[in-house]
Amino acid sequence: MSQLTRISISIEDDIIRRFDAIIEQQGLPTRSEAIKQLISSALVQYEWECGDIVAGVVTIIYDHHKTSLVQRLLEVQHNFSDIVICSQHAHLDHDNCMENIIVRGKVEKVKELHKALLAIKGMKHTTLSMSTTGSNRKVREIASHGNF
Ligand code: NI
Repeated sequence: MSQLTRISISIEDDIIRRFDAIIEQQGLPTRSEAIKQLISSALVQYEWECGDIVAGVVTIIYDHHKTSLVQRLLEVQHNFSDIVICSQHAHLDHDNCMENIIVRGKVEKVKELHKALLAIKGMKHTTLSMSTTGSNRKVREIASHGNF
């Protein structure tokens, strides 16, 4: 558990009023917790921008009757077996399937996989959820050099 640092910031009244309204609507316990989540999001975004080791999920919706699509989906995942941790398949209804592909690896490789999946013809929907491994490797590296 890291040590807590108390900070003080100045923000225009109308911005903080709107922010507090959102905090209440979302049920966040405190202003500090809400700001901590915003900072965490910025750190994760930075990890993706500076090419760190990241984690994420590619979600795909498709019709399993399209056999060539299913075959290609498997091939692509095998081609990226170094970053695909696992995949989860859900039969949404008679026709539609959801596949969640959990990945961890260099940003360029994850984006390459996402691009390869987007290139498969016939997908109904594809998203990439950009998250973190939790170690913030690059951000810690920069902070230790005093650039932060
Ligand atoms: Ni299915």
